[in-house]
Amino acid sequence: MKPIRVALLGCGTVGREVVRLLHEQADELAARAGAPVELAGVAVRRPHKHADLGDLLTSDASGLVTREDVDVVVEVIGGIEPARTLLLEALKAGKSVVTANKALLAEDGPALAEAADASGVDLYFEASVAGAIPLLRPLRESLAGDRITRVAGIVNGTTNFILSAMAASGASYADALEEATRLGYAEADPSADVDGYDAASKAAILASLAFHTRVNSADVHCEGIRAVTAGDIAAAATMGCVIKLLAICERTPADESMPESVSARVYPAMIPATHPLASVDGAFNAVFVEAEAAGQLMFYGQGAGGAPTASAVLGDLVAVARNRVLGGRGPRESAYASLPVRPIGTLRTRYHVSLEVVDRAGVLSTITGEFARHGVSIAAARQTGEGNGNGSARIVVVTHKAPEAALAATVDVLAGLDVVHGVHSVLRVEDLGRKGVAG
Ligand code: HSE
Repeated sequence: MKPIRVALLGCGTVGREVVRLLHEQADELAARAGAPVELAGVAVRRPHKHADLGDLLTSDASGLVTREDVDVVVEVIGGIEPARTLLLEALKAGKSVVTANKALLAEDGPALAEAADASGVDLYFEASVAGAIPLLRPLRESLAGDRITRVAGIVNGTTNFILSAMAASGASYADALEEATRLGYAEADPSADVDGYDAASKAAILASLAFHTRVNSADVHCEGIRAVTAGDIAAAATMGCVIKLLAICERTPADESMPESVSARVYPAMIPATHPLASVDGAFNAVFVEAEAAGQLMFYGQGAGGAPTASAVLGDLVAVARNRVLGGRGPRESAYASLPVRPIGTLRTRYHVSLEVVDRAGVLSTITGEFARHGVSIAAARQTGEGNGNGSARIVVVTHKAPEAALAATVDVLAGLDVVHGVHSVLRVEDLGRKGVAG
């Protein structure tokens, strides 16, 4: 059989593992794909660092992706440019693409999909979300006959490591981040992870696939974990909950304000300690999928790292190679539903609000009155204080579900009241379809 020739863009942690697996499993990959899968070239910025790759190396990525002897381009560079230009050039030149680039897919996935369609080639990206976990193929193929209602999960290992460390030891956010950096989980600039952008890109990709609708990173409401304190983790524990950075993609039925719509959001939230996602600790990822006929499904595994991510890349590569051997294509982008994206303010969420207030008669009633004035129903309120009229008291309010905008407006007003010394924390409480969240 004529070999399938692969151009690899980038040779970092994931790229090295792709090269290793292509080499070590050459015979089995050939048997599975129906033709040998060979490296045609590896484009890197600094060739001298990869001398062992010999003649395969080039610093001319643009030349490599359009070379006549290349069938498939595998991109593991990450970031928007030069990846976008290179992949568009490759697709235009009739090469299939396998990419792990979540940021690019979340920002400009439709442009890549359209370029793939125009040339009749494949665009696969299993490695872009949750590393080794087979998740996109189940959403796109296995569940193609079902109606997905929610995809919610932990899709960032760095933040899950930090939150798990805080919960296990009572450590502060800063100390847990330092440990994550020391152990190599967090990067020197941890912003993409701790500010939620990495998870938001993944949420956009998941929502697009699950709901057959184009959702991009700008559509995803995103909050990170920098403001989560040891006190928040302890407060969650008293509610029978843990705090996780969640990516939540939901289909919402039509209501008086909107037709059927979808939403995608990333934020730290309390979830019941009994929920399967609560026991996902350390750098692991897990995603909970709910579909009308299938019910609840959970996908769990390693969401990052060289070998786990390369496993997903190789799976895509074999699929693309098979399609080439058989003369066909895999599934294309499916965005036919084109549902509107619901603004965050209209979503209904529960909140856990913790306030430091003046400790004197009538303050609790002033506080609860503000919730009532904004139409936010309180599920539970707890006050602790000396009651001597001089000091401060702590008030914790847990609400029923209410529109985000009403909850945010309530908190804004509370923060400005004379009797409020400070708003300690505002955290969402997500039961994720489970009954029995405390409060
Ligand atoms: N930095 C990501 C994480 C892995 O911590 O999970 C790549 O998306």
